[in-house]
Amino acid sequence: MVDIDIVKYLAEKKVLVDKALKNYFANANSLFEMMNYSVDGGKRIRPILAIASFESSGGKDMNILLPVACGLELIHTYSLIHDDLPSMDNDDIRRGKASAHKKFGEARAILSGDGLFAYAFELFTQGSGLIQEKYSVIKSVSEAVGPKGIVFGQSLDIDNEIDDSPKSLRRIHVNKTAKFIAVSIKCGAIMARASEFITDNLYSAGLYMGLLFQYTDDILDIVGEEKKLGKTPGKDIAFGKLTAPAVYGLEGARFRAERYAELAKKRFSALGEGFKILNQITDFILYRTY
Ligand code: IPE
Ligand code: IPE
Ligand code: MG
Ligand code: MG
Ligand code: MG
Repeated sequence: MVDIDIVKYLAEKKVLVDKALKNYFANANSLFEMMNYSVDGGKRIRPILAIASFESSGGKDMNILLPVACGLELIHTYSLIHDDLPSMDNDDIRRGKASAHKKFGEARAILSGDGLFAYAFELFTQGSGLIQEKYSVIKSVSEAVGPKGIVFGQSLDIDNEIDDSPKSLRRIHVNKTAKFIAVSIKCGAIMARASEFITDNLYSAGLYMGLLFQYTDDILDIVGEEKKLGKTPGKDIAFGKLTAPAVYGLEGARFRAERYAELAKKRFSALGEGFKILNQITDFILYRTY
């Protein structure tokens, strides 16, 4: 079960992230206002993962980490805006309100996404010093979210010709979701100047957490409630998407989600007590209802 402390932890860190994000949209023109509309809402799991691994790796000054954490959320939001477009998943609701193209029209939604994607990299360069660490963040994130990561995963996801084998499912999940979750954790450790051993191990644990994350997303598309999810359930079956329940059945997907959670936790635990919070976040993701 999810322990009460983790719910409190996530709520506190979300406040921190939301406050930091707000600064990047102050005195905004209409493009920034549209970008901010889509950024608003959401669980902030990726920036919180960066914060959790930063603190677990001994990072102290949150001002060093927050621009990176916020940049991750901007990239995530861009990916959601484009994912919802009529030519992609055609979703009208996101984060409990009209999705970007419903609100502003398709052209402006596309541009809002483009703006967020690039603005994230501007954030990664902010602050003085830590040039080597910022370089590592930019290198790792760009690999995880571009044509070797999210964009590749999304291109497989919309490919109707793809076979429905477990191998294809895993390839989609690893690329569209897991690499980005893993790199979010890795970025926290990079900015805390953790050893390569720690950052590498966090990344591989994060891949399991990322697979878990997409499994629970796929499961919630079947069993979740619109009000809680803030998006329309039932879309995956309607579109014939290759999802975990489509390949393994609902019970099979649940079973495998538990296994991914165990694999992630085993790896976080191997890094020591200091990384316990990542185990708790893993359990939160396993049991989430939104
Ligand atoms: C949804 O991500 C898209 C996936 C990668 C599965 P989240 O469930 O983190 O969405 P928000 O940020 O809370 O809206
Ligand atoms: C999307 O997966 C993953 C992204 C890279 C955005 P989904 O298409 O299942 O995400 P939701 O369910 O629309 O949030
Ligand atoms: Mg999609
Ligand atoms: Mg979608
Ligand atoms: Mg989904």
